[in-house]
Amino acid sequence: MSLIKKKILITGASGMLGKRIIELFSIDQKYEVYGVSRKNKNNDSPDIIMVNIDLMDMEAVEDGLNQIKPEMIIHCAANVNLEDCQKNQNAAYKLHVESTQKLAAYNPGSTKFIYISTDSVFDGRKGNYTEEDKVNPLNYYAESKYLGEKTAISSNSNTLVIRTNIYGFGSSEGHSLVEWAIEQLSSNQSIKGFEDVLFNPVYVGQLAAIIKKLLEEGNITGVLNIGSDQFISKYQFLKKVAKTFDFSDELISSASSDSMSMLIDRPKNTTLNVSKLFTLTGEVLAFEKGLLEMKQNMMDHLYSIR
Ligand SMILES: NC(=O)c1ccc[n+]([C@@H]2O[C@H](COP(=O)([O-])OP(=O)(O)OC[C@H]3O[C@@H](n4cnc5c(N)ncnc54)[C@H](OP(=O)(O)O)[C@@H]3O)[C@@H](O)[C@H]2O)c1
Repeated sequence: MSLIKKKILITGASGMLGKRIIELFSIDQKYEVYGVSRKNKNNDSPDIIMVNIDLMDMEAVEDGLNQIKPEMIIHCAANVNLEDCQKNQNAAYKLHVESTQKLAAYNPGSTKFIYISTDSVFDGRKGNYTEEDKVNPLNYYAESKYLGEKTAISSNSNTLVIRTNIYGFGSSEGHSLVEWAIEQLSSNQSIKGFEDVLFNPVYVGQLAAIIKKLLEEGNITGVLNIGSDQFISKYQFLKKVAKTFDFSDELISSASSDSMSMLIDRPKNTTLNVSKLFTLTGEVLAFEKGLLEMKQNMMDHLYSIR
């Protein structure tokens, strides 16, 4: 008996988060997985259908949707380069708001839409933000991501907006914070971490798994924070990364973000309160476990490309 598969479309397929979500769904025979990106990537897996769409081209987005007819969409694509978003606000608006509107409005109420947002919708003055706290984005990346949230919710009643902060490897620009830190530490270079910038990031593998659980075990809509169980500074985060990968943490020193002249305003404390996530799923995303999972995944990845 042949199984009728659910069609799931994942944007940002070549990015740090999108890649992991695609991998996870593609090993489950219940799903027919479509990954969207602009790059014509070689795809070894017969279980993933890669589609080349520039999300800034609304006609191409519409054509793609009409051909694929997805029953679920996870919209991860974004431009996470803050400087670029600040300089090219029209492009950021097109990607974060207009493409979101097009994707969310496909078969509204029926197709499940998940929009990946960010903890930086908050101004970072308070921390421990709940889903009900007032947002106040400090830069255009964050503002356009917040406008994306609003358009997703108003275009499709079956939308879940996930506010989060993530870490991992394989980002589209090739240099996530963790990859940069490992590169520096492995060549014995010292690095600085901000002690006054706080967050509770999740490993992208943990986020992918909880998204799958949320999709399969209920129909949650609205806004949901997804963060780990530890509120830590960027300085502490880098020390933990060093420890996980067996580097000396003496190479890491603390600095204050006030000592750096920053061209773009960034929030200081964007820690997310995750009580609602626990109430809905019973899950606590352990920070230390995430680091170990990342190390294992990185080793598996290195082994697979040898
Ligand atoms: N990274 C973080 O620290 C962080 C923190 C909080 C929230 N988030 C959110 O998490 C999500 C995933 O971030 P990430 O770090 O995985 O991003 P990433 O590694 O930079 O990947 C970005 C993805 O977006 C795609 N993309 C960009 N412009 C596109 C366009 N015009 N058309 C089609 N695809 C386009 C890229 O694909 P191609 O370039 O191949 O086309 C790539 O797959 C984003 O929504 C982001 O806002 C990230």
